[in-house]
Amino acid sequence: MLDFLGDLRRTHMCGALRASDAGKKAVLMGWVNRRRDHGNLLFIDLRDRTGIAQIVFNAERDAAIHEKAGGLRNEYVIAVTGTVKLRDPNTINRNMPTGEVELVAEELRILNESKLPPFLPSDTALTNEETRLKYRYIDLRRDVMQFNIETRHKVAKAIRDYLSDQGFFEIETPFMTRSTPEGARDYLVPSRVQPGTFYALPQSPQMFKQILMISGFDKYFQIVRCFRDEDLRADRQPEFTQIDLEMSYPQPERVWEVVEGFLTAAFRAAGSEIKTPFPRMDYDEAIRLYGIDKPDLRLPAFTDVRECFTPENLQELAINPNLPLIAIRTPKVSELSRKERDDIKPMFHSKGGAKIFEDFKRIANKFPEAAAAIAKKASMEEGDLIVLVAGSAQAGPQTAMPAHRKVTPQELAIYASAGLLRLALAQKYADRHGIFKKTGDPAKDFRFIWVTNFPMFEWDEGEKIWNAAHHPFTSPHEEDMKLLEAGVESLNDPQSPLSSVRALAYDVVLNGTELGSGSIRIHRQDIQSKIFRALGMTEEEARARFGFFLEALEYGTPPHGGIALGLDRIVMIIAGAESLREVIPFPKTARAVDLMVDAPTPVSDSQLKDLGIVVKK
Ligand code: AMO
Repeated sequence: MLDFLGDLRRTHMCGALRASDAGKKAVLMGWVNRRRDHGNLLFIDLRDRTGIAQIVFNAERDAAIHEKAGGLRNEYVIAVTGTVKLRDPNTINRNMPTGEVELVAEELRILNESKLPPFLPSDTALTNEETRLKYRYIDLRRDVMQFNIETRHKVAKAIRDYLSDQGFFEIETPFMTRSTPEGARDYLVPSRVQPGTFYALPQSPQMFKQILMISGFDKYFQIVRCFRDEDLRADRQPEFTQIDLEMSYPQPERVWEVVEGFLTAAFRAAGSEIKTPFPRMDYDEAIRLYGIDKPDLRLPAFTDVRECFTPENLQELAINPNLPLIAIRTPKVSELSRKERDDIKPMFHSKGGAKIFEDFKRIANKFPEAAAAIAKKASMEEGDLIVLVAGSAQAGPQTAMPAHRKVTPQELAIYASAGLLRLALAQKYADRHGIFKKTGDPAKDFRFIWVTNFPMFEWDEGEKIWNAAHHPFTSPHEEDMKLLEAGVESLNDPQSPLSSVRALAYDVVLNGTELGSGSIRIHRQDIQSKIFRALGMTEEEARARFGFFLEALEYGTPPHGGIALGLDRIVMIIAGAESLREVIPFPKTARAVDLMVDAPTPVSDSQLKDLGIVVKK
């Protein structure tokens, strides 16, 4: 028999009871987390979102209530009225905030039963992820998930408050709209009223936020859902949340200041004091030091050790003396066994002409002077692992270095191969050697960096065209306008001056994860036209895709710029989670399926008919 809640009101949350409450009456409500039967004494751990309280049912005090409690099972929902009592000193549990007290039950209402769940919120071993996602409501009862979702709330609130205080307006933009140029596939929504036409769900509010600057709102932000149909990974979901912002008349530094401000507030809300300003680095420099545009600063940078070898050494090792010779130092990993060295080889993906020397001991035996110089230059400490990556002597001749660019394509190939290996090595040995273990010091645990001055264009070798590296509304560097003008005259050439045009684009990176991307935008129609030309788009094609936007640009557009950060990624890193699925209440699987509601699903024939859609099997 179940009881009604009636007019019973909760007086305390389970996790709130303290020794100072001893002697008070309390009414607690929650789930039965665990029950222990000690004959005349029956203990229930009662759980709500704040924690656990111990309830005692004593047969000697009240046989009826003790008997009623005997029928309780895991995850039953109950309300208990009783008196808070200090525990006997020998039963105090110092590991629980409520461990000094217990509630002596005087009344028990069983508000609901529960079937035996496929797993229990109190289980210490995690069940498989499919079951967790199918029974997400049970999974979300686990204290880790409660903590993650609470952290998400606190972080979002801190950011919202910070930006509002800085004079930003939160303004909504449509979900049923048309395609935005962020590079993924769109999710489409068919129109019933105009069969054969579709809305696109926004990949980002990019064009709307720029229009809001044209409309005079000056500072906009939105914590907004975005939708992208792309290959999913641990740090990608088909629907995810951006902290999106845009402002009028900013230099990049002004945008960075705002982002550093709200990240400080967000991390503070989660209990960590981070240090600002974040270090800043040119894209080319990031490639030279880390082989990647989202460097993980928790690991040492590359050291170029070309000069540690004599020309004869290099010849003997068949290394190209004109290309980088990189020492990758992985701390704490220590000397590797023969088998472990063999394991490294498959981790190495040569991006053209790069070769790997995974056996530093052998190099040291053969070239002791070079090895000593390398150890010194790379600040090698006892127990560090050194792996060398070099250009093969067979690599073709160097192509000319494009103006402004500090890294040639051949160099890039070596840096990129070494960059991937640097991460793979650290990840492989991370657990064994605690490489990424949190230290409790935010300055060490959260390594932020701004990467700036990205190339404006990327050469697509397959299509033989230039693509926008960020998006086509990103402004070229003011100093590089001449290169842009020269570049549009030689479009089909990978050596075109376009290769040297830098964008006023920037990424904020945390521990090797891209948190956010932004840029100063093009506000002039003449420059926008040149960019479309550089991207191989005719005026008509550009008008067909972005006509409304290009027209808006012609009505007094102020200089403007902004950025968007992934909220899910920020919370994932703060919570120390491995995947976005741990910080999104109802996420999708890698196949973009929601296992709980079972979406997507087929729809009825009549719905399809209304929409004028025929599904081909
Ligand atoms: P961008 O496409 O780089 O830029 O996205 C900005 C940030 O959004 C997050 N993000 C994602 N998070 C989870 N799952 C995804 N599938 C996903 N895709 C992106 C990342 C990323 O850094 N309109 C521009 C911003 C601007 O120029 O202002 C944009 O959307 O953290």
